[in-house]
Amino acid sequence: MQSSIQEILNQDSFSREDLIILLSANKEEMELIFRKAAEIKSQYVGNKVYFRGLVELSNICSKDCFYCGIRKGNKIVDRYFVEDAEVLEAAEYALKNGYGSMVIQSGERTDKVFVNRVTSLLKSIKEMSEGKLGITLSMGEQTEETYKAWYEAGAHRYLLRIESSNPDLYYRIHPKNARHDFEYRLNSLRLLKRLGYNVGTGVMIGLPFQTLDDLAGDLLFFKEFDIDMAGMGPYIEHKDTPLYEFRDQLMPKSERFYLALKMVAILRIMMKDINIAATTAMQTLDKQGREKALKVGANIIMPNLTPVKYREGYLLYEDKPCINEEASECKNCLEARIHIAGDEIGYGEWGDSRHFAARQGRDIGKGRQ
Ligand code: 5AD
Ligand code: FES
Repeated sequence: MQSSIQEILNQDSFSREDLIILLSANKEEMELIFRKAAEIKSQYVGNKVYFRGLVELSNICSKDCFYCGIRKGNKIVDRYFVEDAEVLEAAEYALKNGYGSMVIQSGERTDKVFVNRVTSLLKSIKEMSEGKLGITLSMGEQTEETYKAWYEAGAHRYLLRIESSNPDLYYRIHPKNARHDFEYRLNSLRLLKRLGYNVGTGVMIGLPFQTLDDLAGDLLFFKEFDIDMAGMGPYIEHKDTPLYEFRDQLMPKSERFYLALKMVAILRIMMKDINIAATTAMQTLDKQGREKALKVGANIIMPNLTPVKYREGYLLYEDKPCINEEASECKNCLEARIHIAGDEIGYGEWGDSRHFAARQGRDIGKGRQ
């Protein structure tokens, strides 16, 4: 088995079967994959980690994903919307502390009030930072008009996880209705690409009903779609969601964590120059989860800049870490963690995915700074 893992790693491309073998690697075999991923990271993206200051703008959501703690159907959650002034303060903090970019994430809404508020926030952040802060949005499925308005207002990256690239699994973790349509989501990703965004997607790992074949399919989907960025993490159960019913079918947390780590490493090997996030969910299952992800290929970290008073409201899953840490504490903690992982921080840079530059021609992105 060991040699066959090594043989596969020596190939330039991987079949679905190859990927399933890699994903099944045991602890010892995993090290081979991790070593290769670390080599590729240092060769193609270097050891700089980029910060994206994260603001969780609102937990008001019009959708009902079966896994998500802030789904509309969860009546226990108090809903919030961060004030514009507070978002601007977070943006100022990001700018002053040399974070090149921020990510604004929110529960999904498509109403005019929400869309216009985001547009005006984007403009304010761009104005305040004199165009210096890069902005990534993560606000789900929107119309072409909205994506366009947000791009024009200054957002240039967008994260929209496909959650699972297998439509059958997709419909086991989402209600089957027009608001949760797999094809619509795919089309949203296509739209974002066409409009000129750096496009990121990702999946949850260790979902109930999910197989290694599904995960292999996800990796092939990322490659085929030619994504610029990825954000993936383990699925973590939340007691006030419908998927909680299947908690007994989940793999143990440590196994789920290592499977997620293998996904990060394999994706780095497959897509050498994309940006890959070391996600908070990784840290939820392993105290050093993000550092471990950095070591095997991730190069992006999203320190939380959401004002602490709102954080309890944005619990997509249980045991989310750092919900009481102020931005400055997060910063110090992360700096130390990144150095431990052997990386350095790319202060004051956008840190766009090199893949995007290669895809679009060198000047895009720079021209908008
Ligand atoms: N466990 C792990 N990740 C989750 N997300 C939502 N709910 C969960 C959960 N229970 C992820 C989804 C979504 C992102 C914002 O958070 O992948 O796209
Ligand atoms: Fe809010 Fe899925 S529950 S987008």
